[in-house]
Amino acid sequence: MLLMTKFENPWKQNPWFESVAVAQERARKRLPQPVYGALVAGSERGQSVADNQAAFAELGLAPHVVGQLPERSQATMVFGQQIGLPVIISPTGVQAVHPDGEVAVARAAAARGTIMGLSNFASKSVEDVTATGANTFFQMYWTGDRDTMVQRMQRAHAAGVRGLIATLDWSFSMGRDWGSPEIPEKVDLKAMIRLAPKVATKPRWMWQFGRQFRQTGKLPDLTAPNLAAPGEETGPTFFGAYYEWMTTPPPTWDDVAWMRETWAQISGTPFVLKGVCRVDDALRAVDAGVAGISVSNHGGNNLDGTPAAIRMVRPIAEAVAQASAGQVDVVMDGGVRRGSDVVKALAMGAKAVMIGRAYLWGLAANGQAGVENVLDVLSGGIDSALRGLALASTGELRPEHLLIPDGFDRALGVPEPARTVRAGR
Ligand SMILES: Cc1cc2nc3c(=O)[nH]c(=O)nc-3n(C[C@H](O)[C@H](O)[C@H](O)COP(=O)(O)O)c2cc1C
Repeated sequence: MLLMTKFENPWKQNPWFESVAVAQERARKRLPQPVYGALVAGSERGQSVADNQAAFAELGLAPHVVGQLPERSQATMVFGQQIGLPVIISPTGVQAVHPDGEVAVARAAAARGTIMGLSNFASKSVEDVTATGANTFFQMYWTGDRDTMVQRMQRAHAAGVRGLIATLDWSFSMGRDWGSPEIPEKVDLKAMIRLAPKVATKPRWMWQFGRQFRQTGKLPDLTAPNLAAPGEETGPTFFGAYYEWMTTPPPTWDDVAWMRETWAQISGTPFVLKGVCRVDDALRAVDAGVAGISVSNHGGNNLDGTPAAIRMVRPIAEAVAQASAGQVDVVMDGGVRRGSDVVKALAMGAKAVMIGRAYLWGLAANGQAGVENVLDVLSGGIDSALRGLALASTGELRPEHLLIPDGFDRALGVPEPARTVRAGR
């Protein structure tokens, strides 16, 4: 009996992982192929999703051998919030990755002292997410009429979010050369039978959702609770939500100004525009009164052929710093997989980075602890880079701390002469 209790399975996997790549590999093994496929996907030929990561590898670091500092700080002020590390959770719909979904992600964000970006397509309600105590920014697409948007903003504000992220880059570029994953309208018996061959080989994932079913009697419903009409308990299905979005006329700059102003009246907290790629758009966003901008190609999921986000950061950060006298924060997202990537983005002028797939893989691999693990991996990498560069804080990072190959930057939407100056740097 004693022997039995002391026996430990020597092959049991240590749930901790040392890199985001290891988390990704565990997510690949654990998730049904359509779910994993939805996470890694990029649009069309995948040029932008590949460049997001490849571009980071083009940038180099030049470490010192002596003179490194014993204390190094990652604390950052961004969008009016004090955060413990310059890494923010980017909003993603994490349907079907893990039964605790965005609630687990929010708990991890709170535990590590950073901002939780919550998608309006999320599987958990904004009330459940803010109840974790996480510093939550609610993300909205331009979808529905103005009255509906106001009602969604009011609900998010009432739930206690501390900022709004407007993601306006989506251009419905659907075709993927490797095929789009199948997402059922809802997880009913019919869908389960159809998908059974793809999930039958993933016992751990099935067991997690089975446990949820045993505890709550509910299967994942694949709805968007944050888009529920007032008074309704459940939100539209993912496809219903997508239809509303597709049929909403695209926003104008006046609409952006309206949205920012409306949010200011409702909440008075920061308004961030996500998905900016061009200097001219960034400057118009400054004119529209935004508090922050995320340079992003939507993780390579939008218009394929858009350059890597890290290539677009420096021209935008410089222009925005000048136009706003340093009042508007620029962050970036796309391809961040390690602490040195964060350091590179900050040296190029970003105040912080946002991460998407990295935390989704952590979530798939080990729930809340997996997301914390990803944030720790990034934080550890940032600290190593600061030590090597002999810097006391992330706030000291500048372009001169990097080896930047000629022609690395992509300055989109600037007059030709300025672009020539940039290329010659
Ligand atoms: C599966 C998935 C779902 C996403 N859903 C949203 C979303 O609902 N709203 C949004 O603003 N961005 C969404 N994004 C984009 C991310 O916020 C972020 O821009 C992108 O993931 C960053 O690239 P990375 O995954 O390489 O870190 C999504 C990305 C992925 C991979």
